[in-house]
Amino acid sequence: MTTLNFDSLVEGKPVQVDVEGVKVCVARVGDEVFAISDICSHAEANLSEGEYKGYVIECWLHGAEFDLRTGEAITLPAVAPVKTYKVSRDENVVSISAPNQESEK
Ligand code: FES
Repeated sequence: MTTLNFDSLVEGKPVQVDVEGVKVCVARVGDEVFAISDICSHAEANLSEGEYKGYVIECWLHGAEFDLRTGEAITLPAVAPVKTYKVSRDENVVSISAPNQESEK
């Protein structure tokens, strides 16, 4: 599990964290926080180096979009989803742990 400070998260600016040796992209939307695999399912780009609006994050390399809530690929060229990670929040402390089961398909 990895923790970070909620106040350090800026909406629209994803950050990369390490969760048990895996790169994870963390994004804040209002009072909610989402965590998905940082590696785009199309190629090897880091999603945390891109931007997001609302619940949609765009890969900076070829423009594929993913839903931060589900990891679903919304637009080509990506077709496969990215894994989502469990996020919990206690006041200012955000905890990120292993991938959600349903996104491991
Ligand atoms: S690497 Fe992300 S869309 Fe191609």
